[in-house]
Amino acid sequence: PRTVSRAADGALAVAGCSVRDLAAEFGTPVYVLDEEDLRTRCRDFRAAFPTEDVYYAGKAFLCRAVVRMIAEEGLHLDVCSGGELATALAAGMPPERIGFHGNNKSVAELSRALDAGVGRIIVDSSHEIDRLTGLARERGVRPRVLVRVTVGVEAHTHEFIATAHEDQKFGFSLAGGAAIAAVLRILDEDVLELRGLHSHIGSQIFDASGFEVSARRVLALQAQIRDARGVQLPELDLGGGFGIAYTTQDDPATPADLAKRLRKIVDGECAAERLAVPHLSIEPGRAIVGPAMFTLYEVGTVKSVPVGAGGDTADGHRCYVSVDGGMSDNIRTALYDASYSATVASRASGAAPVLARVVGKHCESGDIVVKDEFLPADVQPGDLVAVPGTGAYCRSMASNYNHVLRPPVVAVRDGQARLIVRRETEEDLLALDVG
Ligand code: LLP
Repeated sequence: PRTVSRAADGALAVAGCSVRDLAAEFGTPVYVLDEEDLRTRCRDFRAAFPTEDVYYAGKAFLCRAVVRMIAEEGLHLDVCSGGELATALAAGMPPERIGFHGNNKSVAELSRALDAGVGRIIVDSSHEIDRLTGLARERGVRPRVLVRVTVGVEAHTHEFIATAHEDQKFGFSLAGGAAIAAVLRILDEDVLELRGLHSHIGSQIFDASGFEVSARRVLALQAQIRDARGVQLPELDLGGGFGIAYTTQDDPATPADLAKRLRKIVDGECAAERLAVPHLSIEPGRAIVGPAMFTLYEVGTVKSVPVGAGGDTADGHRCYVSVDGGMSDNIRTALYDASYSATVASRASGAAPVLARVVGKHCESGDIVVKDEFLPADVQPGDLVAVPGTGAYCRSMASNYNHVLRPPVVAVRDGQARLIVRRETEEDLLALDVG
């Protein structure tokens, strides 16, 4: 969040709301969304891409209140399941501003998208083209589609979140000729309105050269299509994946830098291929919501544990600080070896820093929230610990592991706190059991 200050009692306050008051009112753990921060990020993207479309990737975090915020700020919305589509529609997102993604959309999901009149469907396989063609014919509609192209770029990020290298499940491969075949088929059948091409190379990317290579390759395909059929597809989506700073070592580009860079690449390639510049769109998720939220936990236990021979701590011990959540509200550390930071938020402390590990309450030792962080040596039960940068892919990937209840989300703005996702209850858990 951008609006962090320290209250008179030493507690941190965000958007004028003290973390102590937030914990007292909503309990812990709780995700806190700095609404003005999220809106500012939306505006920064809109300002940097004024003639393009910015689709917020809802998979990063979605609830009705956030759909309304991004819609008010002029963004479009990328959904990738029936559930995300239902949330978007329930929040009143104009369907023509929704794009529908997914490598295995079901007949029910595609039908719902057609009936709702979503603005575009990003087709991902020839089986999907079969299904969508059939469903569109039945309904007498001509949906707008983009073809997702796998451009063969090795994005420099974790293997599980890189998506455009060869040998993975997304899109139509350029190298094998599947992409051009899909495009020609859609053009020939004429049931779907082919608007353009789509490429998404991965997530948490800092090195823009991946976007350069990917834009070059999709535009070369555009030129190939023009040469084969004499048509020029009007749109190009370069996907999302723009990295954010989880720790001080990360140095992300601003939306303005990004826009400059992407436009330069596209303009240059279009000139080289003698193509008209297509209408661009992008799909940032993490860069919109990631930095706008933090998780507030309460410390329950503190232990100093001997690390054994060859241990990496100065005094042969590690300080384990257990909080009241963990891998059920943030799986990213365990799953991707992601780095986060942590800070004692409920008070100021003059105690010397000790190297600590912030862990959760789950029944496995991989349940780590922050692997290494300096916390004051007097960190103790009852302290509130804040972990920033948890807006993207934490609540959306949260689970009920160990039947731990998923935390609420509270939006703070101008000194006011508003619950936008309530805490799960034991009744919610039991409601799914039959018998
Ligand atoms: N567009 C498409 C087609 C995508 O598949 C994704 C993310 C995005 C846009 C948004 O990417 P972003 O701007 O948020 O990086 N669970 C992982 C991230 C998976 C990303 C999946 N696709 C994580 O926690 O890092």
